[in-house]
Amino acid sequence: MALNVVAADAPLVERILDETFPVWGQGLDRAAYGRYNRAQAATPWGAANLRRVALVDDGGRLLASAKRYVLAATVDGERVPLLGLGAVFTPEARRGHGYGRELLRRVLEEAAEQGFGLAMLFSEIAPRYYEHLGFRMLPVSQVALSARPGARPGPLAIAMRSGDFGDIASIVEMNESARAGCRLALVRDAAYVRFCIARKRLLAASGAPGHRRVEFFVVEEGGRAAAYVVLLEVGEHAMVTEWGDRDPSGARVGAMLQTILARDAGAVACLRAWLNPGPLPPQLEIAAREVPPLTMMMRPLGRHVWPSPPLDTGDIAWWPADVF
Ligand SMILES: CC(C)(COP(=O)(O)OP(=O)(O)OC[C@H]1O[C@@H](n2cnc3c(N)ncnc32)[C@H](O)[C@@H]1OP(=O)(O)O)[C@@H](O)C(=O)NCCC(=O)NCCS
Repeated sequence: MALNVVAADAPLVERILDETFPVWGQGLDRAAYGRYNRAQAATPWGAANLRRVALVDDGGRLLASAKRYVLAATVDGERVPLLGLGAVFTPEARRGHGYGRELLRRVLEEAAEQGFGLAMLFSEIAPRYYEHLGFRMLPVSQVALSARPGARPGPLAIAMRSGDFGDIASIVEMNESARAGCRLALVRDAAYVRFCIARKRLLAASGAPGHRRVEFFVVEEGGRAAAYVVLLEVGEHAMVTEWGDRDPSGARVGAMLQTILARDAGAVACLRAWLNPGPLPPQLEIAAREVPPLTMMMRPLGRHVWPSPPLDTGDIAWWPADVF
């Protein structure tokens, strides 16, 4: 039986969505799940950089599928093309025949030939599945944050406004300077930053009204964004999907998050974030360290080798917004 890797066309994408909906439906109905996925692929960044690939047999049967993202990272100061992999899936009836692994093996081989230097994924399953393909785990530090005791309760005197796409250029600059101090970080250009925010908004808009909320706030200085934060909220739980601050101490972001924690009589009772290199904003403290539900995994491709010394917590800048 001949096996082929193909870029999924629209009908094949629908079959993949039918199969993956029970696993990754995120509480949406099937129609909304379809709209959410198609809308991501139709954004300017998605259309250029996000593909579904599938392993099919000579009868066109779907054997395995995955999402493939074209990204770039900096590793110890060097810019490296990065292949992101997501939504690795084998239909239930086809599992255990090596199809998932074969799809990944071929996609990785092709990516190495195309000049990608790194592959990355976020595993929801036991990491050994991907370790067999050369991936290793990277440390992610997820924390629950609270305002420092003694922080003034009630609304605070920081003038936040809703962020908009006019702020993207400032956000790209903030991301760039944050990246400078890290050994591994994602390169976030304007189209990609827009994609990340749009993806969260699409998810919120696709579900039951009010179930998920996305908040995007900016603090301005001199007419441009000097700090920003994006939150995804479900009930009283909020995840900081990304943040940035021109002030290296993070004091503006700290004041924004302190305000968010103080408003509406504790509407956000639990605020989570992934800790990136750099100081924790002075208004905040770590309430708890948590095990993230996903394992960040990476492997070098082609002529690229593992960074040396090995990457450790405190070396990596990565946001939940950048999970694919
Ligand atoms: C995980 C998945 C893609 C594996 O697909 P598959 O085509 O059956 O996998 P393969 O036949 O290539 O590999 C089988 C191996 O995977 C292992 N495996 C299967 N499911 C696994 C899991 N949840 N965790 C870890 N290993 C798993 C099997 O034990 C087997 O190992 P072995 O070769 O050492 O015996 C498939 O089970 C699936 O689609 N699951 C639901 C979606 C999902 O969770 N995807 C992963 C997202 S990170």
